[in-house]
Amino acid sequence: MKESVETNNVIKLPMDKLALGMFIIAVDRRQQKVAVNQPGQIKHRDTIIKLRKNNIAYVWVDIDRSSDTCGLKKYVKPNGLSNPLAKKASFTIDEQHVKAKKLLSEAKNLIQKVMTDTYEGRNLDVGDFEPVVEKLIECAINDTDAFRCIAALRTKDAYLLEHSINVAFLLVTFGHHLKLDINTLKQLAIGGMLHDIGKIYIDDEILHKPEKLTVEEFEYIKLHQVFARDILEDTVGLTQMSIDVCLMHHEKLDGTGYPEGLMGVQLPLHGRMGCIVDIFDALTASRCYKEAMSTAAAFKILISLTPAHLDHSLVYEFIRCIGVYPVGSLVLLSNEHVGVVWQAKNRDVLHPIVKCFYSLKHKHYIDVTMIDLLKSDVYIERGVSPRSLEIDPSPFY
Ligand SMILES: [Fe+2]
Repeated sequence: MKESVETNNVIKLPMDKLALGMFIIAVDRRQQKVAVNQPGQIKHRDTIIKLRKNNIAYVWVDIDRSSDTCGLKKYVKPNGLSNPLAKKASFTIDEQHVKAKKLLSEAKNLIQKVMTDTYEGRNLDVGDFEPVVEKLIECAINDTDAFRCIAALRTKDAYLLEHSINVAFLLVTFGHHLKLDINTLKQLAIGGMLHDIGKIYIDDEILHKPEKLTVEEFEYIKLHQVFARDILEDTVGLTQMSIDVCLMHHEKLDGTGYPEGLMGVQLPLHGRMGCIVDIFDALTASRCYKEAMSTAAAFKILISLTPAHLDHSLVYEFIRCIGVYPVGSLVLLSNEHVGVVWQAKNRDVLHPIVKCFYSLKHKHYIDVTMIDLLKSDVYIERGVSPRSLEIDPSPFY
């Protein structure tokens, strides 16, 4: 089968949603996306029947090249938006949040299972990741706001699970921003989910130690990458790219990282992306011993680590991708109300919808209000961390 040319506006549909006029570019065959030999619009019912007879469960449809009457574009046209997927438009924000919550819990269960299996000596099979990875990619492309919002609410006792999912999600988001293809996004997601798998053999007490680590303790923690290498060697179906994402996330461009001390060109794009994403997520997460850092403060640290440790232009690209006020982050508005950035897709970075719940002026919680900054005189003053305000934003996510 040959590769087909496709636009970014591609949607995966179950067979029962397939209709005349839809432009098919690929079908699933044994759970693999396979490009069709002659991509094109479906003109006859016979084609749909034929696909069903061949046991095809899903198809990939290019919305831009589908007919206006097939039902996919009806949500897009009235607003004149350039690239929102029709599938997204069919879900309300609340439904997207429910979906994102479900995915997050599925992903947590998967990583928990993977960790337990590995710890108990059972080999991993990459095939087990497929369903979650597909949903994660779909979510990162279509329902970014909802997933970011749900994922921003971290629980301090599930750090490793949530960090692994967030690194995978951020890698996919960053990869999509860099226009990497879907197969690459899959490999990035799997590498992200497995990137800290070696930590299952590290003593929890040292792993979660609040104080500064001694030299010996740091050397011991570095072993998680040696353990990871052994685990990954025994994992069925893992690609080199996924292995690299995992084994390179503590390497540094000047060669002072671990486990190999790789330098410069020895670190490919996906390896460099993993380093940036891992540090960013660690900084912006709250742990049992530290509060989350604001996005802007984390960006400042990432920049300070260039060019010695991190790729300078890639860090700036990452900042452009995430934005200074990403969904899920807390902001202080010019009316001294504090809120969670709730919706940002198809808006410029300074004008998201903000869910306000606290008045800094009066130092008390207020009735929850959604402020659309595109329709309001109020503007974002700055990003804030929950710790700096001594408030608990968790009920408002
Ligand atoms: Fe690590």
